[in-house]
Amino acid sequence: MCGIVGFTGREGALPILIRGLYSLEYRGYDSAGIAAFTKEGLRVIKTRGRIKNLEDKIIAEGGLDCTCGIGHTRWATHGGPSDRNSHPHLGGKEGKVAVVHNGIIENYLELRQRLEAHGYEFHSETDTETVAHLIDYLHTGRREDLAMTVLKAVGRLRGSYALGVVSMDNPEEIVAARRDNPLVIGLGMGENMIASDITAIISRTRKYIILDDNEVAIVRPDGVVVMNEFGDEVEKEIHTVTWDLSAAEKGGYEHFMIKEIMEQPQAVSSTVRPRVQEGAVRFEELGLTEDRLRKAKYIHIIGCGSALHAGMVGKHVIESMCRIRCSATVASEFRYENPIISPDDLCIVISQSGETADTLAAMRLAKEAGAFTLAIVNVVSSTIAREADGVLYTWAGPEISVATTKAYSAQLSALYLIAANLARICGTIDAQEEAHICDELFALSDRIRQTLQCKEQMQYEASLYANRTHVFFLGRGLDYAAALEASLKLKEISYIHSEAYAAGELKHGTISLIEEGTLVVALATQPALYEKTVSNIREVVARGAAVILVTTEDFDGDASQCQQVIRLPKCQSMFSASLSIVPLQLLAYYVSVQLGLDVDKPRNLAKSVTVE
Ligand code: G6P
Repeated sequence: MCGIVGFTGREGALPILIRGLYSLEYRGYDSAGIAAFTKEGLRVIKTRGRIKNLEDKIIAEGGLDCTCGIGHTRWATHGGPSDRNSHPHLGGKEGKVAVVHNGIIENYLELRQRLEAHGYEFHSETDTETVAHLIDYLHTGRREDLAMTVLKAVGRLRGSYALGVVSMDNPEEIVAARRDNPLVIGLGMGENMIASDITAIISRTRKYIILDDNEVAIVRPDGVVVMNEFGDEVEKEIHTVTWDLSAAEKGGYEHFMIKEIMEQPQAVSSTVRPRVQEGAVRFEELGLTEDRLRKAKYIHIIGCGSALHAGMVGKHVIESMCRIRCSATVASEFRYENPIISPDDLCIVISQSGETADTLAAMRLAKEAGAFTLAIVNVVSSTIAREADGVLYTWAGPEISVATTKAYSAQLSALYLIAANLARICGTIDAQEEAHICDELFALSDRIRQTLQCKEQMQYEASLYANRTHVFFLGRGLDYAAALEASLKLKEISYIHSEAYAAGELKHGTISLIEEGTLVVALATQPALYEKTVSNIREVVARGAAVILVTTEDFDGDASQCQQVIRLPKCQSMFSASLSIVPLQLLAYYVSVQLGLDVDKPRNLAKSVTVE
């Protein structure tokens, strides 16, 4: 949530900051702003709305001629989206300090009261303005580096933050600080940057360092110094971005979402192929020994949103393949439900961004209890990836659209790999069965490619149903887990109310909402449950529902009552969730396009949720 960028160098900073903000817009987009040093001093231009509105406002105000500045794109927490709540916030009566912030300051009210008692006037409802005034308060009248003041200031903050701070005392310098929110520092030649993630720096440099919790960095055109919480300088590892800039661009597609849907075969094969050798699943990177895996009598799977839905599929697959008890829990619930965790347990943590606050906190809890934490993460070197005991990267490449598609598919593949590996180690499958599973996993990416051929059909279906106000998704077992994800996809980008129900459960109340013309999407990919789901379809059809059935090529049940039947290529039923989601992602996408909505940046959402 919220994106931060900063640049200091010799070139004009404005286009670099604007470009950086555009690439961070997925993190929040209700308002944006820039603070920069110009001939007239420290200037702040900010506005409610998108980056485009900010650009227009900057032009209207005569531009910003600068070589050093900080920018922000916001996802509101404290105070609604408005010009005055937008960042950067100025600190002090003279506005000598400007701050951009990602995170939540929990003790901001208490700090605010104390600063007000010292004569500070607040112009916004945000927690961030407190930080700006606090830094001014601690800095004014003292001959101290801004960085030392920031270090002192963050010591008084409770909560989470990634901060970018500039002060009129040194118009070439940006001070950055972090706790529980991501921040990277891009290293260029005669220029350096700060950013919430590497997509904002990659157009200038591939070299970056990751700021760790409680560190503070001084960023100047000719160098970067990082200090720990005691003010001691620390050596930082320099990382290199491995993917290309084109991976984070639309490449001729109208939206990132459709590009990413179409990239799923590649995302799946890149995740599976390096881990399958000669008919066996092999992980070298996990840091998890076979003995340790064998000890696991219980597996906790944790995630939020789509990552949780992938986990729910994973639970079914692991339980049926390995016969090990497994639960899939919402991270925000897990962390406060006093979970029973034994040191032998395995905890699989799933996150595309690797930064989701609740998932990270839940993982830390499991780790503290002694469980082995295994992270399935897409963003390399993200906090969850670095803190987990073992990490299995999904090689889906950068995912920009807020609604996840290819990262979700890659997460499913990673879970299948873990299940197969675990099953062999626990002896629930033999070498021959493992080889067969590996063949299936290899074939998955081609089957997804085949499934994508229903694109035009789904576009047509979308045109038929885009005007509905309620949609229900039904499924049993694995299909229920897939239905949850399909329903989330539709509601998040089309704003149509949708719910996913275990097909047998609908009649216990919710069926009262079915009326003439209600769209019901039924998933039936598990042969053993075909007939049961067909009965549930009959129940809703009898009450006027129009049904789209997503099923397999060899479905032999009665589909005569369904308006449309989408048949998926044949695959081992355990892996069907990887195929059934594809037409439903396309349905959601085309409904959103049909309704003229902002597909890649749906209202109220953010891709990376770094607040709890
Ligand atoms: C947000 C996104 C979802 C995502 C969830 C978890 O809510 O909008 O698409 O599934 O966060 O994100 P993560 O990065 O942990 O997978």
